Amino acid sequence: MEVIIADQSHSKYAEIICETIAESAAVRGTGIARRTPEYITKKMVNGNAVIALDGDKFAGFCYIELWGHGKFVANSGLIVHPDYRGAGLAKKIKHKVFKHSRTKFPDAKVFSITTGLAVMKMNTELGYKPVPFSELTDDPTFWDGCQTCKNYDVLTRTNRKMCLCTGMLYDPKAEKSEPIKIKEKVFNRLKSIKQAMFLKKDKK
Ligand SMILES: CC(C)(COP(=O)(O)OP(=O)(O)OC[C@H]1O[C@@H](n2cnc3c(N)ncnc32)[C@H](O)[C@@H]1OP(=O)(O)O)[C@@H](O)C(=O)NCCC(=O)NCCS
Repeated sequence: MEVIIADQSHSKYAEIICETIAESAAVRGTGIARRTPEYITKKMVNGNAVIALDGDKFAGFCYIELWGHGKFVANSGLIVHPDYRGAGLAKKIKHKVFKHSRTKFPDAKVFSITTGLAVMKMNTELGYKPVPFSELTDDPTFWDGCQTCKNYDVLTRTNRKMCLCTGMLYDPKAEKSEPIKIKEKVFNRLKSIKQAMFLKKDKK
């Protein structure tokens, strides 16, 4: 199984990717922003997508979207083909697309809206925090993508303040300013070195 940054040569998979996303959403009975094969192909051509292939068989996919003039990045459309689920593939794809987003757009905040427990778990592992929608992009084009979701009436009724999805955000600035955590073992060793130094000083 290879998990790689997609390019033009992978455009032949655009159709099956869209079909798998739509079929999975129908099975789950949840809302989904619909994508076209043309849109998916564009993502591949621009180097803004990750694809997982088992030989020449499509196994999984996710792509990057830029919002609010590049202030925000979203890793969207995560899909693992039913034949390959439950073996850690989504996690591999998420890690790859997250790392790629951070390298390509280092100053952008990375966000996600989801109803899925699997995605919530993976986002949390990557350092995303749950936030109200007010912390996410206000780019109208992003929210227009929700029009094809069956819960869109909830989003409009609440003036885009909340919906059935949970908003999650990775803020690179917040991550940098977090205090450095020292392991207890290391801390105790540093403490004993400091005490030994004081003892030495007292003896002099
Ligand atoms: C959700 C999906 C991407 C998971 O793919 P996968 O390769 O089976 O996931 P992984 O094996 O990498 O599992 C990643 C984590 O999610 C958990 N998970 C996977 N499927 C889950 C499910 N249906 N419900 C709850 N947790 C789930 C796993 O236990 C794992 O968590 P852990 O690290 O705590 O053990 C896949 O089922 C899918 O494509 N579903 C349809 C599309 C979809 O829901 N996309 C998300 C859009 S919001």
